Amino acid sequence: MSTEEAVISMHEHRAVPSSEMSVNTMAADAAPAPAAVTTNRPLNGMLVDLRRSTSSDTSGIVGTNELDVPPAARLRALPRVPDYLEETYHWAYLDPRNLALLDRQQVVSVILWGNDRRLRRAALTQIEPGQKVLQAACVYGNFSRALARHIGPRGSLDVIDVVPLQVANCRRKLKGFPQATVRLADAAAPGGGPYDAVSCFFLLHELPDDYKHAVLDALLGSLAPGGKAVFVDYHRPHWAHPLKGVMSIVFDLLEPFAKGLWNKSIAGYASRGGDFAWRTQTFFGGLYQMTVARRHPRSEADAR
Ligand SMILES: C[S@@+](CC[C@H](N)C(=O)[O-])C[C@H]1O[C@@H](n2cnc3c(N)ncnc32)[C@H](O)[C@@H]1O
Repeated sequence: MSTEEAVISMHEHRAVPSSEMSVNTMAADAAPAPAAVTTNRPLNGMLVDLRRSTSSDTSGIVGTNELDVPPAARLRALPRVPDYLEETYHWAYLDPRNLALLDRQQVVSVILWGNDRRLRRAALTQIEPGQKVLQAACVYGNFSRALARHIGPRGSLDVIDVVPLQVANCRRKLKGFPQATVRLADAAAPGGGPYDAVSCFFLLHELPDDYKHAVLDALLGSLAPGGKAVFVDYHRPHWAHPLKGVMSIVFDLLEPFAKGLWNKSIAGYASRGGDFAWRTQTFFGGLYQMTVARRHPRSEADAR
């Protein structure tokens, strides 16, 4: 297989020639490069363009010989900020001026109509102290600190996000929690597993449908046998819900991918849903859901 064939852009669904690839020589904390991650778009000025590389490596990680980088510091490809984030959510997650305004528990509480604590509590009850946990994207407010506190010093919390600004901000918030690390990675290629539990708090509704599929499969795939993925997100409200019309307008204006969760179950986005036991609980007249997918332990999976 040629390099061109091996490197497929998940974000644009097109083959990306190796000549367009860029890698970050400093991203020692980035997840192992997913075959899908590629771009030559500069990200915070950290990307190095390897247009002249002659490497025949087909792993998605470009060879290092031309840059004289020691083999131990193997290059890792940086995840690209996906188009939907740039185009739809730039104001919310990529603009440092807005970060300070939005990253407050009161703001999260208003956005969730006062259900923030209840939903967070529901998610935490699914996760046990001492577990190895992946948090699939940063969350504004206190969520990550509450999760780190909940798993305690004997657990480990691995937070990922695809936006460097969010990674830096979350690292700041998790100072003082040695059990927590924050790194740059796309939830569609998280790395770092297997995990006892994965927490995915209000990420799915922000993803285009094909991306929902990719993230679902990747997160479920990073669970150990018996492990649980906990998805807290929007859900189709009861037809008589007094906020249904308001939320419909908000989604049409600001959250164009959210109604995917009104029209399809979260399990419906998984390719191998049969490998998991699914349970959904709804909240606040059905506007929110917590869906838990528990991976069958190996013996059960083998028996199937
Ligand atoms: C969890 S979601 C929404 C959370 C909710 N609005 C809140 O903060 O309370 C927001 C985060 O997801 C991140 N994100 C979006 N797409 C991602 C992806 N494919 N992989 C990893 N992180 C992603 C954004 O950068 C942002 O930090």
